[in-house]
Amino acid sequence: MKLLVAGGAGYVGSTLITKLLDRGYKVDVVDLFWFGNHLPRPVGILNKDIFQLTEEDLEPYDQVIFLAGLSNDPMAEYSPSKNFVYNAAAPSYLAYTAKKAKVKRYIYASSCSVYGYTENELYDETRPVSSSYPYGISKLQGEQAALQLVGEDFSVISLRKGTISGYSPRMRFDLIINTMFKNAMKDRTITVNNPSIWRPILSIQDAATAYIRAIEANHKISGVFNVASGNFTVGEVGDLVKAAIEERLGISINLSIKHIQDFRNYKVSIEKAKNVLSFHPADDLKAIVTNLIDNMDKFQDWDNPLYSNIASFKALESGIEIHAMAKAL
Ligand SMILES: NC(=O)c1ccc[n+]([C@@H]2O[C@H](COP(=O)([O-])OP(=O)(O)OC[C@H]3O[C@@H](n4cnc5c(N)ncnc54)[C@H](O)[C@@H]3O)[C@@H](O)[C@H]2O)c1
Repeated sequence: MKLLVAGGAGYVGSTLITKLLDRGYKVDVVDLFWFGNHLPRPVGILNKDIFQLTEEDLEPYDQVIFLAGLSNDPMAEYSPSKNFVYNAAAPSYLAYTAKKAKVKRYIYASSCSVYGYTENELYDETRPVSSSYPYGISKLQGEQAALQLVGEDFSVISLRKGTISGYSPRMRFDLIINTMFKNAMKDRTITVNNPSIWRPILSIQDAATAYIRAIEANHKISGVFNVASGNFTVGEVGDLVKAAIEERLGISINLSIKHIQDFRNYKVSIEKAKNVLSFHPADDLKAIVTNLIDNMDKFQDWDNPLYSNIASFKALESGIEIHAMAKAL
């Protein structure tokens, strides 16, 4: 089976693609390489924008996976216009062109942020979506456009992922556990911005598993699936990350509890992904922290702008060569 991964050079893709190659898939990546290229050698590279892909370009593929776009709220708010182009129009165009090219399945990287601010109830995929911020709105628009195209010969699977954390060759420190880990290592303090807010957390390894289950699901399966390793309050995440680091490294970490208002608060049910895709998360928060500690020798330059999507994006927007900026640190 031949797969095309759009945005495959990012945080999720650079972990997922090694696993896809290990399973014997032929994989090509189309990417603008905003954060460099950390992909394994056997992957095919198309260094271009999704909008430059034609129907003929997509004909060789059995499945197309969308992992591109502006992948967090700060980027989306920094450039709402680019957010709606890259997060809503790009995945819509890609899904539409893939269907025309007779690709059999399109897998879309959606987000639990589509749920917005909920009242502390467990949300399954039938519950209303309510985000009123650029990132959440655009992720929903991309999802809806793709699902609109489901047909006899075109399956669409949308994975509404929780916040991902753990080590990936394209590293990010702007994701909840990774940020706490960085601050614990650098300053011996974990800041909890709002301890009562709920977040579904997804380990990077479980995220890769979810994509593999989607790729390998029966061709008749289409739909939206919540995907998470577990639901936690941010206060609990802080406690568990602190405990895991202290136990493993024998150092003492402080907690700084704040009460900053947040516009996202949600916890999700993953029963549908379990029952339909056979997705069973394997990691708890301790496993995520262990994975970070085990790979720490690869990313001790904590303030490298390449690890922060918004820092990298601002630099790119102002024409600064971020790889040179990272080297100069
Ligand atoms: N990381 C998370 O916690 C999380 C959670 C839920 C959903 N998601 C979604 O999953 C996807 C992957 O997230 P990530 O953390 O790997 O993101 P990332 O920011 O690390 O990577 C995105 C990649 O897409 C590329 N890209 C962006 N627009 C492009 C375009 N038009 N054409 C070609 N390449 C383009 C970038 O160069 C980059 O390599 C995103 O769509 C994101 O919205 C991520």
